[in-house]
Amino acid sequence: MLVAGPHTRQRARLTGVGSYAPERVMSNADLEAIMDTSDEWIVSRTGIRERRIAADDQATSDLAIEAVRNLLTSTGTDPSDIDLLVVATTTPDHVLPPTAPLIATALGMVNVAAYDISAACSGFVYGLSQATAMIEAGFAHRVVVVGAETLSRLVNWDDRATCVLFADGAGAVLLESDDGIPGTGVLAFDLGTDGAGHHDLHVAAGGSRLSAMAPGVGPADLGIRMKGREVFRFATRVLVESATRLLDAAGLTVADVDLLLAHQANERILEHASDKLGIARERMVMNLDRYGNTSSASIPLVLDEARATGILEGGALILMVGFGAGLTWGSMLVRWEPRS
Ligand code: UT7
Repeated sequence: MLVAGPHTRQRARLTGVGSYAPERVMSNADLEAIMDTSDEWIVSRTGIRERRIAADDQATSDLAIEAVRNLLTSTGTDPSDIDLLVVATTTPDHVLPPTAPLIATALGMVNVAAYDISAACSGFVYGLSQATAMIEAGFAHRVVVVGAETLSRLVNWDDRATCVLFADGAGAVLLESDDGIPGTGVLAFDLGTDGAGHHDLHVAAGGSRLSAMAPGVGPADLGIRMKGREVFRFATRVLVESATRLLDAAGLTVADVDLLLAHQANERILEHASDKLGIARERMVMNLDRYGNTSSASIPLVLDEARATGILEGGALILMVGFGAGLTWGSMLVRWEPRS
């Protein structure tokens, strides 16, 4: 529950992460068997080797519930202590109601304000920024931010240019308030939008512009369409620009950054960013070879992998960058301060 009243400035600290990926693995060889594509094309153009696909009875909330459960367990958090739940998703269970209340109720978050946000592949960073603002304003104290997607339900499986890219997964983080110790928590964020590119990555039907029930609407209208090269150019540009602006705003340089966790869209985009920013490959975590592009889930998924494998150490300064449909981008500098 969020009740706004007199408040003090606090900091938002990143204290936990959890994730979940569906069990079913779909490899490039599996795709070769059902469409005109090749492992060689997919790997050389994207870096993706396999991805996870939700079971028939799993919706986005089911993946998110597992990710948040893992987060609450690993941080020893009582669900009733969470006062805000922000769920970033492009693939909600339903157009109506939002997905966040389903997750909150399933996990026993009885004192929570819960809602969804839609900012595509930038959604997780947008959600983190909102949560940070709520904490710094003094309105929230323990916030869970989720990125969760079942993009396998939103792709057109007849469009090989997109269906080999997108996949399913969920990740969640815990943000907690503290007394405002300088240099801790979320240090800066940079959010932006260029709506002129909204047609570069979009789903034509199913919204108010073109009803899913309109005459003649078919799978091609209800699935993701992407002008890959345009989005590629946009992504390589904004990833570097946003990260640079963010570091300037925080008065820091790339030398201060311990880990770059960028949206896992394409290995070539990430390697370009690493080269341009001058961040060594060892400081850039990638898992898209095994998970593909999971949109808003990709940054928390890779964050949890960095934690689980020990790459992420307490006190590390993380640079996160998301980019995607909208077109949108969002980046954040945050210190990792795990509860334990
Ligand atoms: O998550 C949001 C952000 N998303 C991104 O950042 C994605 C940005 N874009 C990209 O990552 C790349 O543009 C893609 C990986 C999507 C595509 O790579 P590309 O090098 O830009 O390829 P392309 O779209 O220009 O297609 C090149 C060729 C085409 O054939 P022709 O016309 O040259 O004969 C396509 O028909 O590759 C063909 N192609 C495929 N071939 C085999 C497209 N998809 C496939 C496929 N298998 N799955």
